[in-house]
Amino acid sequence: MGQFITKPCNVKDVVPGMTVGKPVLGNNGRVLLSEGIILSQRIIEQITNWGLQQIDIQEINQSVVDHVQELEECARQTRENYENSLDKLKIYFEQTRRYKKLAVASMWELAHTLIGQLTNTRGIISFLLMLERKDDYTLHHSLNVSILAGVLGKWLGVTGQDLEDLILSGLMHDTGKALVDINILNKPDKLSKKELEVMRYHPILGYELLRDNQELSEAIRLGVLQHHERMDGSGYPLKLSGGQIHYFAKIIAIIDIYDAMTSDRVYKSKVDPFSVIETLNSEMFGKIDAEFCAVFLQNISNYLTGKFMRLHDGRVAEVVYFDSVSHSRPVVRTEDNEFIDLNRNKDIRIDEVIDV
Ligand SMILES: [Fe+2]
Repeated sequence: MGQFITKPCNVKDVVPGMTVGKPVLGNNGRVLLSEGIILSQRIIEQITNWGLQQIDIQEINQSVVDHVQELEECARQTRENYENSLDKLKIYFEQTRRYKKLAVASMWELAHTLIGQLTNTRGIISFLLMLERKDDYTLHHSLNVSILAGVLGKWLGVTGQDLEDLILSGLMHDTGKALVDINILNKPDKLSKKELEVMRYHPILGYELLRDNQELSEAIRLGVLQHHERMDGSGYPLKLSGGQIHYFAKIIAIIDIYDAMTSDRVYKSKVDPFSVIETLNSEMFGKIDAEFCAVFLQNISNYLTGKFMRLHDGRVAEVVYFDSVSHSRPVVRTEDNEFIDLNRNKDIRIDEVIDV
């Protein structure tokens, strides 16, 4: 028997601290609340406002010791799957650079096995936030975008073959970079206008690598070609706007920006997911799909509620509440029982997520 059982629970009997057992879906099939979310008073109020009578709640089906052991085993397995995926991806990128040909069948297999499992792993968002990136940026980034595009796809109600294609498109979105001059790709200084033009050609190079492969759906190719297009037409390479952009590319664009910002923070110091969310919310207004972005931020903030963070003064604090509009900086409760509204105390930074 598994470590958890799910039981239907009347919404009137739901209390903060309970865990959602099965995803709660809206009328359009979008995920309103993911499995594994720890319910806060605010989320319970939301559920009541949605008019739901009953939701599935998760209960631990074993002793605490067994439960902790299984969580540790799950964390070990996640790390192993991630590192195996990274090793394989490294070989595929090197092959692409050497032979100017993409190992499509191998990438397809990777997307459908190890990465598919990672998108279904409990705590995958915290895992990626806490991850130390040891390898090449493009490798980590491609893998993370693939995983998180799958996660956001599921939150948006994408299923079956479409979801598998989305994960593969995310994995291959930057493969065109394998054909870009390595000196430009790894240049630490600011790129010249000419070099920037070369870099901005990578979506077309990626599309061309896939063009002759008839087994892949056009959606996969369009996710690769259009992931730098922006809703207001300010993107590249074709300056498409709004409805001209395929929804795979809209999903990958959001995840691409989110992962680039979280990794930026890794180089500077530790990751504060809330400042990333805040930036995504404000700076990208009008540029990324607003509805998709709202679903992403809603689910990420629900996911982070109940998690423990370390403040820059060293104190540990639990996230207890999110503003439903900004989804950015939460109210936290510190270990010495002080409630702090981080929206009103912008000088207090969160240094890291310390809880999976
Ligand atoms: Fe890219």
